[in-house]
Amino acid sequence: MSRLWEDPRFGPLAHELYRRCGLVFEGGQAHLFRKRVERRALEAGYGDVDSYLERLAFGIDPEEFERLVDLLTVNETFFFREPEHFRVLLDEFWPRWRERGEVRVWSAACSTGCEPYTLGMLLRERGWHEGVDILASDVSTRVLGEARQGVYTEFALRNTPAYYRQQYFRMEGARFHLDASVRSMVRFQRINLAGPEPWEPPGRFHAVFCRNVLIYFDLEAKRRVVGRLVASLRPGGVLVVGRSESLLSVPEAPPPLHRGGVVVYRLPEEAENGSEVSPFGWRSHV
Ligand SMILES: C[S@@+](CC[C@H](N)C(=O)[O-])C[C@H]1O[C@@H](n2cnc3c(N)ncnc32)[C@H](O)[C@@H]1O
Repeated sequence: MSRLWEDPRFGPLAHELYRRCGLVFEGGQAHLFRKRVERRALEAGYGDVDSYLERLAFGIDPEEFERLVDLLTVNETFFFREPEHFRVLLDEFWPRWRERGEVRVWSAACSTGCEPYTLGMLLRERGWHEGVDILASDVSTRVLGEARQGVYTEFALRNTPAYYRQQYFRMEGARFHLDASVRSMVRFQRINLAGPEPWEPPGRFHAVFCRNVLIYFDLEAKRRVVGRLVASLRPGGVLVVGRSESLLSVPEAPPPLHRGGVVVYRLPEEAENGSEVSPFGWRSHV
């Protein structure tokens, strides 16, 4: 239960956003929610926010919903963010996965693409860029458009080593253009991880990244999303969440594995025959 839902003006819209994509706006975020909706009302040609909210009360059309999601999601990301995760994946698991054929990875809330593209660069450096499928998705169509373009400001490269800047980016004015050799490694798709409609996994992956997004969900939405992500993993597959995100209270999460100073969550190999191996009842919550 979010306090914003009790607000007679903004509450119904906030609750609808929660119902449709799991997002909860508390504290400072609730203030931001009101400000951004007010701005959108003016932008959409309404004289005041109340007439806009009144119209939405009769149902949000898909286009307006997309605009609101674009406005209300936090899309902060940058290259080489929390690099330990990539190191652990590439050093510990990747060699074994490669031996068995194509390696499939899903960056499940990729924002403007820095996360999947970082992986792409690291794979190129190791000469492991063939036989890889990288799916990157987000609920916001605006960030996906930016991700496809692959053009960034200095701020997005603030953690990027000089070598990678020189090797993989071309500067035009103040903008950094990512090389096509890396862009072509990633395919983008709009996927809402928390929607109320029945879930169809976009594939079965060796690794699923879902970093720095679960913090915007309440426990119920978090459990739904983690269940869906786990259902998209292959046996032995690894779920990676942000360093500040714990899955302790999420029974759908696979067992944690402490490696290289970080925690990843790995599905046991023995699930191979589709058998129900989880002591926590994975998949049953999907
Ligand atoms: C803070 S960014 C994190 C980006 C990247 N994973 C990282 O760690 O740098 C969070 C992203 O989650 C996306 N997001 C929020 N709710 C979502 C949902 N229900 N389904 C898919 N993506 C969602 C937002 O649009 C935003 O781009």
